[in-house]
Formats: sequence, structure tokens, C-alpha cells
Amino acid sequence: MSGSDRLEASVIESVFDAVAETAPEIRAALPGRRVESDRENPSGETVMAADVHADELLEERIGLIDGVSGYASEERETVVDVGSEPKLGSESRYAVAVDPLDGSSNLRSNNAMGTVVGVYDGSLPARGRDLVAAGYVLYGPITTMVVATADGVREEVVTRGGDEGVERSVVRESISLPSDPVVYGFGGRVPDWTDGFRVFAREIESELKLRYGGAMVGDVNQVLTYGGIFAYPALADAPNGKLRLQFEANPIAFIIERAGGAASDGTEAILDVDPEELHQRVPLHVGNEQLVDRLEAAVESGQ
Ligand code: F6P
Ligand code: MG
Repeated sequence: MSGSDRLEASVIESVFDAVAETAPEIRAALPGRRVESDRENPSGETVMAADVHADELLEERIGLIDGVSGYASEERETVVDVGSEPKLGSESRYAVAVDPLDGSSNLRSNNAMGTVVGVYDGSLPARGRDLVAAGYVLYGPITTMVVATADGVREEVVTRGGDEGVERSVVRESISLPSDPVVYGFGGRVPDWTDGFRVFAREIESELKLRYGGAMVGDVNQVLTYGGIFAYPALADAPNGKLRLQFEANPIAFIIERAGGAASDGTEAILDVDPEELHQRVPLHVGNEQLVDRLEAAVESGQ
């Protein structure tokens, strides 16, 4: 292994150590933070107290990692420079982009939420092809963490281990999407979908089972587990959909591609989309490759 490969492997390991250690704290702090803060995020959404808390914890922990130069989150306008004093004299060239609490509108109804993480080799905004690892935590009935690297995709269960801190056990290794898809979940209101997407959705409704929980991480995890397709498509008044390229779409696309699936903005692979700005949105369609191919064909013919 070359020195730069070693640095990359150590950055990836440290980022997911930090995320796993922080996850139980984020979870434990939720009950008192189901209220709105006085802030809006750069996308114009109301920020919950739990979003602010998760973002602060992650910035503090990820910012300490040797080799990480930038921390960016959905809740902050600009990238935080965390690499001005390279620790151990190493090169600081990786940037970490985070959705600290994905699906936080589910706080009020007590449904699933997550934390999404992308580790980019380069400064942000970056292309998804610059990701070297991505993952998410799912705060469901249990806390799980999915991690994707060049080596594949794994799922861990994360628990608090008393005085020993956090315990992690790998429960699924070398995850690949089941070849016989079962579930689908599409965001947005049906009348706001494009004609092409509506035609595709009508077909899918008769083939797969609806599973939509309103948190991307929870809905994507169903696709990763059972096979199928998740989409937050282009809408009439929001042609770029809702999800953010750097913080949500790219990391999820990286995970699903590593698991043998595909992710598209409707015309091209999400990971090939050239970024224009940090908080830009993008339509996301992700899941089994043959479904994403059909979606692209339907969107193209229906516009
Ligand atoms: O981060 C945005 C998000 O909360 C995603 O987790 C989720 O897929 C989407 O918004 C849900 O949006 P809607 O409330 O429109 O279904
Ligand atoms: Mg989100």
C-alpha cells in the first residue's frame, strides 16, 4: 500500500469511527430537541434543535481527524476549514459532507431519521466520482450504520457499550441489491410530477410494493434490503427536486452503485453530475439498475 493509499484508508476509518461514536449521542439527545430552532438552513428549510445539535457534534469530531481539510453540512452556508494545522504532518486534502439529521421532519411523528456522510477526495463542491467512501446511520428501532468503500458495502449495528463507549458489530458484509426488486417509494405530490415520471410510477405501482416513510435514509435502506427503487423526482415548481447533491444524492448514489445498483438524475448518473454550488438540489432516482434504466427512458420520452 502506498503512503497516499494508507492516508486514505486511515481518513475513511477515522471518519466512520467518529460517526459511529457520535450516533448514540445524537440519538440520546433527540427527545429534548423535537422543536424548531430560530434558524433556516441555506436551502430555506426550518432547522430543528436536533439538526443543530447533530451538526455541532459531527463538526467537532470530524474536524479533529488528521487528513480532513473541510467539513460541510446542509445546515451551514459554507465549508468549514478544519485542516489549517495538519496533524502528524499529513496532507489534508479530504472533505467530508454531512446531512446531520436526514428526515428531521419525522421528529414530531417519531419516525425514522438518519445521518448521511460523504468523504470526498478534494474540495467542495465536488463530483460524486470524487467520493472515496460514503455511508449513513439509520436511527430506526435499532441504530445501524451502512458504510461503502471501494471494497464494498457493509452494515453494522451500533450500540452503547457502557463505560467502554460504543460497540459495533458487522451484521451484513458485501451487500448487494437483491436482484428481484420488491419495494418502491417516491417523494413529492403526484400532480407535481412530470408526465414521464407519472407514467413510470403507474407501471411500478403494479409491480412493486409501496414503502415511503419520508426520510431518505430509511427509504433507501428498504431498497438496499429488499431491492427496488427510491426517487425524489423533479417537480413542476422544483425542477431539481428536493434532495441536495453534495450531502444526500452523491453519498446515496455511491452506496447504491457499490451495491450493484444505479442512481440517476433522470438523464445521467448522479455521480457524473458536475456541481455548480454547495447546496444545489438534484432529482434522485436510485435502486436496481433495470428500474433506473426504465425510469430514464420514461422521463426522456415523457418530457
Ligand atoms: O432531507 C430531505 C428529506 O427529509 C428526505 O430525507 C426525504 O426523502 C424528504 O425530505 C421527504 O420529503 P417530503 O416530506 O416531501 O416527502
Ligand atoms: Mg436530508
